[in-house]
Amino acid sequence: MTAPLTLTIRRPDDLHLHFRDGETMRAVVPWTVRQFARAIVMPNLAPPVTTSALAAAYRARIMACVPEGADFTPLMTCYLTDNSDPADIAAGFGDGVLTAAKLYPAGATTNSASGVTRIEAIMPVLERMAAIGMPLCVHGEVTDPEVDIFDREAVFIECILAPLLHRLPELRVIFEHATTADAVQFVESAGENVAATITPQHLRINRNDMLVGGIRPHLYCLPVAKRERHRLALRRAATSGSHKFFLGTDSAPHHRHTKETACGCAGIFNAPFALESYVAVFEAEGALDRFEGFASEHGANFYRMPLNAGTITLERRPIAVPDEVVGGEAAIVPFHAGDTLSWRVASGE
Ligand code: NCD
Ligand code: ZN
Ligand code: ZN
Repeated sequence: MTAPLTLTIRRPDDLHLHFRDGETMRAVVPWTVRQFARAIVMPNLAPPVTTSALAAAYRARIMACVPEGADFTPLMTCYLTDNSDPADIAAGFGDGVLTAAKLYPAGATTNSASGVTRIEAIMPVLERMAAIGMPLCVHGEVTDPEVDIFDREAVFIECILAPLLHRLPELRVIFEHATTADAVQFVESAGENVAATITPQHLRINRNDMLVGGIRPHLYCLPVAKRERHRLALRRAATSGSHKFFLGTDSAPHHRHTKETACGCAGIFNAPFALESYVAVFEAEGALDRFEGFASEHGANFYRMPLNAGTITLERRPIAVPDEVVGGEAAIVPFHAGDTLSWRVASGE
């Protein structure tokens, strides 16, 4: 018997995910800790993490869920609102409590009701962030009811992000969970201060996977999966070797019954098999040699953090993804539930 193909990379970071809080968080954190050394934790709790003090308290609650002996660092973000205080946010960044601030247009996604209603309201914060080099994470979708949901990302880039970067050319922006060829093109042609995260689901599914032959609520997230040509553009960007694109799972746990319902929540829980999901894309694109850059280097460099020590090894050996996993108050259906993936994590150190 021949030994399985293996791939050893520097320990990776997840530069965008949702841990939630309470019992759900206790159930989901170990999945991320198993694979990633650090993660940028999103602040869209209810109520949201809007100040450095709330972020510090949330960080302590996360650390209490990290299994004994594991080496994991949560990197905190704060949720911008129309009333955000530039001084508090800048102080949080200066203290190392905050790694970034997050822009949710009000009403764009899960728990975004307290988000920003107009960019003008946060210009003082953004000006301060640009001056001190603090990164801005962006959920890039407009919320105007007349804009079609499949166009909301492209319209955001044209009407909000491009003008913002024109006003603040130094602002460091992470265009989160890019889902379109438009986003890829924008990020590629923008300055070195603009980068993007790409999720496993947007590399693997298009809108047909979600809607043809029946509606699959567990493949519904925001921004919603687009046409096949957009998926192909994302695969090209992720596997290109460009340092502007890096790993951010957007793992977003919702309990099964809140997705399998008349009005289901947006979000895909991909933390359990995230690296396994991504690495198969790099293999299929003939780019296994570029996986380490995407997973472990480009993001850390953009955030100006040291690269992680240690490695993780993946091996080309099938693994069955369970139909559901423990999720605290109720079960959660993971991405790829019931499928067999071709790669698995072999060991970490
Ligand atoms: C995320 C969530 O559930 O918090 N949902 C999602 O569909 N991606 C929010 C977000 O990242 O937009
Ligand atoms: Zn988002
Ligand atoms: Zn997210």
